[in-house]
Amino acid sequence: MTDNQAVPASALERAAALRALIRHHNYRYYVQDAPEIADAEYDALYDELVALEADYPDLVAVDSPTQRIGGEPLTEFESVRHQVPMLSLDKCTTTQELEDWLARCRGRLGFDGPLDLTCEPKVDGVAVTLIYERGQLSLGATRGDGQTGENITANVRTLRAVPLVVEGAPAVLEVRGEIYLPQADFQAFNARARETGAKTLVNPRNGAAGSLRQLDPKVTASRPLTLFCYGIGQVEGDWAPATQMEVLERLQGWGFRVNPEARLVEDATGAEAYIDDLLQRRARLGYDIDGVVVKVNRLDLQRRLGTVTRKPRWAMAFKYPAEEATTRVLAVEFQVGRTGAVTPVARLDPVFVGGVTVSNASLHNMDEVARLDLHVGDTVMVRRAGDVIPQVMTVIAAKRPADAAPVALPSGCPSCGNPIVRLAGEAVARCSVGPRDCPAQRKEGLKHFASRLALDIDGLGDKLIDQLVEADLVREPADLFRLSPDTLAGLERMGQKSADKLVRSLQQSSQTTLPRFIYALGIREVGEATAQNLARQFGSLEALMAASLEDLEAVADVGPVVAGHVHGYFRDPERRESIADLLAVGVHWPAPAGGDGPAPLVGQTWVLTGTLEAMTREEAKDKLQHLGAKVAGSVSRNTTVVVAGPGAGSKLDKARALEVEIIDEAELLSRLEQYGQR
Ligand code: IVH
Repeated sequence: MTDNQAVPASALERAAALRALIRHHNYRYYVQDAPEIADAEYDALYDELVALEADYPDLVAVDSPTQRIGGEPLTEFESVRHQVPMLSLDKCTTTQELEDWLARCRGRLGFDGPLDLTCEPKVDGVAVTLIYERGQLSLGATRGDGQTGENITANVRTLRAVPLVVEGAPAVLEVRGEIYLPQADFQAFNARARETGAKTLVNPRNGAAGSLRQLDPKVTASRPLTLFCYGIGQVEGDWAPATQMEVLERLQGWGFRVNPEARLVEDATGAEAYIDDLLQRRARLGYDIDGVVVKVNRLDLQRRLGTVTRKPRWAMAFKYPAEEATTRVLAVEFQVGRTGAVTPVARLDPVFVGGVTVSNASLHNMDEVARLDLHVGDTVMVRRAGDVIPQVMTVIAAKRPADAAPVALPSGCPSCGNPIVRLAGEAVARCSVGPRDCPAQRKEGLKHFASRLALDIDGLGDKLIDQLVEADLVREPADLFRLSPDTLAGLERMGQKSADKLVRSLQQSSQTTLPRFIYALGIREVGEATAQNLARQFGSLEALMAASLEDLEAVADVGPVVAGHVHGYFRDPERRESIADLLAVGVHWPAPAGGDGPAPLVGQTWVLTGTLEAMTREEAKDKLQHLGAKVAGSVSRNTTVVVAGPGAGSKLDKARALEVEIIDEAELLSRLEQYGQR
């Protein structure tokens, strides 16, 4: 703080007010994930503070939000000794081992009732410790060997989720947590690196570790790192928490980011249910976890249990199956997608990774093959995490056999034999003809057309589509609706009963919705969300087909590239014919709701969570979309209504935190009825 006479009181006051505002909005954005103002408004506050501090250099304080990225690059990191050692964890992989551990705890405590436990995701990142003295961040350090770590204060300060100031904290407060790189940011980073030929990150954990190990804090600041805090080290002052849950709640209250999945559970049964449930949701968490940390909740019991060889007796890591493994590349084959893209795919010696056996991995394109320097016969590290298909992350060069063969792009399409072309500036190679002349594109286009988010044709699996195309029974999506039960019954692995059933489900699927139909067409880069936006904007297929490039670019999330794909698609006479044919065989959808006026829920964003009983989530989504609502997968401050069924979890918590309207299924049904959608 400054008492310099040169700084007028009004500037001092304004700076203090701006800092408080910026801190608040930082917290809403980076810790709570729930911003209250637009980015531009935040930027204006920030710029005003920067200008004020430039006018009055004496105003600049180390804890000012403008000072996160300060100073020159370091030449090395200093070592720091941890006052309270940073422990590691004992691991187990079976419920029996977990129960044995709890039995040992009970034995040592001389206690036979159920134990209160906390369960927290074991986030796979980098452990850090943060020390606050009189409420100001004074040190950020790595774990190192648990006794001595490295001083990474300058880097840690660049994380917006790390408070620089904590109000009401004890005189000394040491907070421990895990810094990580969210999966989406990791993928975006790698996608960009692949485009520019820069070095990719091997996995989010290495990405986080590498980012923190930068001597230049500007590099760290450019990486979207965040953290979850899960514990404390030294504390001096008047705070004596009684339980782990209380620690987490207090940390959250002080503005630290705490994992919303942390729960208090009862004994082994509670922990096992948590472990099962989290494993089910692992791919959707958005960050890598390698298991669950189970802790005895009461801190007095933790103290009585104590520590052996740097591992606490009061905590246990239940490890999930690894999401990375090494295996051998048996071959590289080329697959032709529905848009004609020819993609190299690695055939792998089957390996168990991320809970399933993986035998193929995408290699994206030939640039990626070159970047990896991948040869057939190589040993590679494969990763399967989140909702992403298995990826080859690195080649283990030391294990390359003498007869390893380089990979070359074939000159002809593996499906139709026509030339493969690669446009200048595009990483992807494509078959030079369209679906009419290339069976692979036809098959893939039909698979997409029948898929769950498109026409959702029950009973029409990939194998059957392959057969139908190979027997030349289906060339166009419309041909599907002309199939007779007798034709179908003549196919391999098809009886009369399943043939009849398929014809019925085709009949059912022919009644669809406009967003589904648009998505089903398989236009390049038009996913489910874009199809929804297009349907909402144009209201009818005719209007969409007639849209100009400018009209298309006016749609949310549609840029010039996607607009070009959509526009080109509807100008192609073959495509127009195939659409006309689909309408002729009876594919139809209801006209937009609300007659002439706009649909009643236009401009609203709904989120469905938990289970619904009267209808599936997909049905509810179709109905809401039909009324003009956007149906999103996650809750944000833009959410209008959250429909929560039994079993709703973190989305419901978030909706409560953001004070979004929450309704149950009965209320949903009554509102749908009100709009004639039941
Ligand atoms: S507690 C004394 N809780 O796991 C207990 N650790 O092997 C020490 N980790 O790198 C850690 N999430 O950073 C704890 N919720 C959590 C955790 C967690 C991730 C990491 C920790 C360390 C390793 C311990």
